Amino acid sequence: MRIRLGSFVTALLLIMETTNAEIEGCDFFDTVDLSSAQKLSTGSYLYKDIRIPKNLTGEYDYKLLANGTKEKVTVHTRGCVCQLSPCVRFCCPPNQIMENGVCHDDMTKKELDELDPYLNVTLDNKSVVRKNFKTDLIVQSDWPMACDHLFYLDNREKEDEYTLFENGTMLRHFDNVFLNKREYCLQHMRLDDGSIRIAPHICMAPKTSRTGQTLVMIISMICLVLTISMYLFFKELRTLLDKSFICYMICLFMVYFFQLLDLWDLSQGFCMTAAFMGYFFVMASFLWLSVISLHIWLRLGHYYFEHCFPAYSLYAWGMALVLTEVTLIAHTIVENKDWNPRVGFADRCWINTKDWSAMIYFYGPILILVAFNIIMFILTTIRINEIKRELKLFLSHQGDIPSRYRKLKSTKSSFIFFLWLFIMMGLSWSLEIISYLVDDNKLWSQILLVADYLNWCQGTIIFILFILNASKLDHFKKR
Ligand SMILES: *[C@@H]1O[C@H](CO)[C@@H](O)[C@H](O)[C@H]1NC(C)=O
Ligand SMILES: *[C@@H]1O[C@H](CO)[C@@H](O)[C@H](O)[C@H]1NC(C)=O
Ligand SMILES: *[C@@H]1O[C@H](CO)[C@@H](O)[C@H](O)[C@H]1NC(C)=O
Ligand SMILES: *[C@@H]1O[C@H](CO)[C@@H](O)[C@H](O)[C@H]1NC(C)=O
Ligand SMILES: *[C@@H]1O[C@H](CO)[C@@H](O)[C@H](O)[C@H]1NC(C)=O
Repeated sequence: MRIRLGSFVTALLLIMETTNAEIEGCDFFDTVDLSSAQKLSTGSYLYKDIRIPKNLTGEYDYKLLANGTKEKVTVHTRGCVCQLSPCVRFCCPPNQIMENGVCHDDMTKKELDELDPYLNVTLDNKSVVRKNFKTDLIVQSDWPMACDHLFYLDNREKEDEYTLFENGTMLRHFDNVFLNKREYCLQHMRLDDGSIRIAPHICMAPKTSRTGQTLVMIISMICLVLTISMYLFFKELRTLLDKSFICYMICLFMVYFFQLLDLWDLSQGFCMTAAFMGYFFVMASFLWLSVISLHIWLRLGHYYFEHCFPAYSLYAWGMALVLTEVTLIAHTIVENKDWNPRVGFADRCWINTKDWSAMIYFYGPILILVAFNIIMFILTTIRINEIKRELKLFLSHQGDIPSRYRKLKSTKSSFIFFLWLFIMMGLSWSLEIISYLVDDNKLWSQILLVADYLNWCQGTIIFILFILNASKLDHFKKR
């Protein structure tokens, strides 16, 4: 009995050994399924005229998915064919065509025959050769992609160029990132002009979770609505500062709204309008912030600008309109791609924030306004300290409280409220601009994510700051 059990265990071990044998030194993404390949008597396989020696084959009971997890499948033999012959990664079988990131098999016979089968492959010695994917390359097409949202590179445009290496790695030129076969796939696609062209499909940037972003934004929007209603409900909150702040919150609400539409592809039908409206409200929000910081500074001085709301409105809405108009005109008439704002670029209903043009039309104005706000806040801090010193002097000489001090007291609480707001805003936008300036890399994309969330949380932060603002609560208690 013992002997029998022993031999049974040995047999079991032997079976496990043969079924678990993976190919040594071979990346899973360099293998192909040999189930339908011809097995030769020597134990090697013949796959599309390539002889795969026995030591380059192995048994697999799983499929590796793009996100690195293993999916259980029935045991099958795989061969490390890409070490013998160059491979190319397709999104779907090569007789299919990609439309809006989805594979279709509706190519006509004529289209199939006319398909341009050539790819430019860069060899290790840097020379570029044309390779026919049907005859010179092994097509691998049975893996799911890493994301739902595919994005294509049209290499007729300079910034969308790419290099395909013989080992299957692809270099994306616009940010110099190497992508491996898990991270991109090639497929023919129908272009806007009806022609068919092979193009790499990639997952754009490190995707943040859409649900997370949506949740954070919707909470922010609700908080904004609550804060705005409180401002409208309490009649005490009708100073110029309050009114400007309401305008700012409305802008922020609209920015979130258009970003959400874009995020869920709901603005495709009116893409340009949505993109320009979004742009208008981003600019208007920064302009209103500059109004607020300017006003706080002026109020502490000898100036009294309480009746200037129409002028401020004209400035904030007007300038935003002018900037939008300039961008719109540039979008229509500038032919050089580097100087065109490229609104609605790459299926996004938003201004293109990736290229240098974004510096002119988007980050440039924002940078100037952020700088303006920083200066205003430094000036305000200096002035507050000045007044305090003055006050001390007064108090030591005579018991009377100067009128300027009373103004200081009421301004200071709103100053601190807005200071917090500006620190949050300034921080998140500075991070965003810096991460735009430095090339895409992993660390900065993490920092950018924090900045993004900070931005999306703003409505909630405003609500919390507003509730915490003790002087406002005192107001309510008095009622
Ligand atoms: C596989 O076997 C061949 C000879 O049959 C040998 O030349 C080659 O180096 C082996 N490869 C590996 C990866 O062991
Ligand atoms: C990996 O992707 C598969 C399907 O594409 C999914 O079922 C699985 O949950 C993912 N795993 C992780 C860790 O994301
Ligand atoms: C390959 O390179 C040639 C010449 O540079 C170019 O005309 C052609 O469009 C390229 N093909 C692909 C598929 O990129
Ligand atoms: C690169 O290598 C290929 C074959 O491996 C050869 O045909 C080609 O001439 C080489 N090019 C250069 C510039 O050395
Ligand atoms: C493939 O080749 C390119 C260029 O020679 C190289 O940068 C890259 O690291 C290689 N990738 C792998 C997985 O060997």
